[in-house]
Amino acid sequence: MKRRTFIALAGAFAALKALRLRAAEAGHDASPVIALFGATARSGREIIRQGLERGCIIKGFARTPSKLGIEHENLTLFKGDIYERHTIDPVLEGHEVVVSMIGAPAPEDPSAEIGPVDIYSVMGENLIAAMKQKGNTRLIMASSTGVEHRMDIDSPKPPPGDLTERWRWLARRLYHDMWRMEEMIASSGLDYMLLRPGFMVEEPARHNLKFNTTGNTPGARVITYEDFAAFILDNLNGGDYWNRALGMYSDTVMDPAAEIEKFLARQKAAQEAAAQEPKSR
Ligand SMILES: NC(=O)c1ccc[n+]([C@@H]2O[C@H](COP(=O)([O-])OP(=O)(O)OC[C@H]3O[C@@H](n4cnc5c(N)ncnc54)[C@H](OP(=O)(O)O)[C@@H]3O)[C@@H](O)[C@H]2O)c1
Repeated sequence: MKRRTFIALAGAFAALKALRLRAAEAGHDASPVIALFGATARSGREIIRQGLERGCIIKGFARTPSKLGIEHENLTLFKGDIYERHTIDPVLEGHEVVVSMIGAPAPEDPSAEIGPVDIYSVMGENLIAAMKQKGNTRLIMASSTGVEHRMDIDSPKPPPGDLTERWRWLARRLYHDMWRMEEMIASSGLDYMLLRPGFMVEEPARHNLKFNTTGNTPGARVITYEDFAAFILDNLNGGDYWNRALGMYSDTVMDPAAEIEKFLARQKAAQEAAAQEPKSR
């Protein structure tokens, strides 16, 4: 082979390799592996549904993986509890985008004061430590608009009447703990998105999300889980919303009394369904 031909071929080969590498990197970035904590959360399920439709590879973490009821070649489930650090470690290999939808359960009695809460701050501590150990750099965490409207722990009980104001007081410990988690994540050195959604409903997407980064997101606004999940999947790779706390809301105002009614009706239906199930011996 002539020297000039050899040099031309070697050059073409090197260019092809560089192109392949860029394509591989772009491919990796276009569809990063998601490590999803809170796979059985309503939002987690929606992320899984839409993520699998988009061809994402998902590692789901849940206390009871069998509750999810979804099997797919691109979905691997891990059993664990966010309070137990050793159950988090096996999920991470260093390259995943970590997404957490874990949260305190809704109170059984929506009119009762929520007691001490530490799940968010413990989760923040455990996830940050596990990510740093494994080399993961990107964390998307569900928080809440309620963080921006939180009351001090020592605030006096508001007079009866305004249900939104009452909820701020009842849930003040929960939002305080969420805020502590946000502070940890923002100062962790990781790349992060702290998502502060309004009230989420299991209804079809409305494509009406609005965003606020100034800390005064309008309160008591309704968004759908579908829109919330789609936003997360659209922004896995970085962009303007990263390294911020992001209020997510819509122009639809929540009616607290109607939502409490719906919640109680759902709770009653779930209890009746559980009572119908055959008892295991
Ligand atoms: N829903 C809303 O309107 C709303 C509004 C603003 C912010 N948020 C926040 O957004 C996040 C997601 O909301 P969501 O409505 O999708 O949540 P959700 O349906 O209430 O689910 C909460 C999830 O957390 C999991 N979990 C609780 N304790 C855990 C533990 N110790 N270890 C592992 N997993 C645990 C639950 O697992 P199990 O299935 O095992 O119970 C469940 O998967 C939460 O942080 C919530 O506070 C929600």
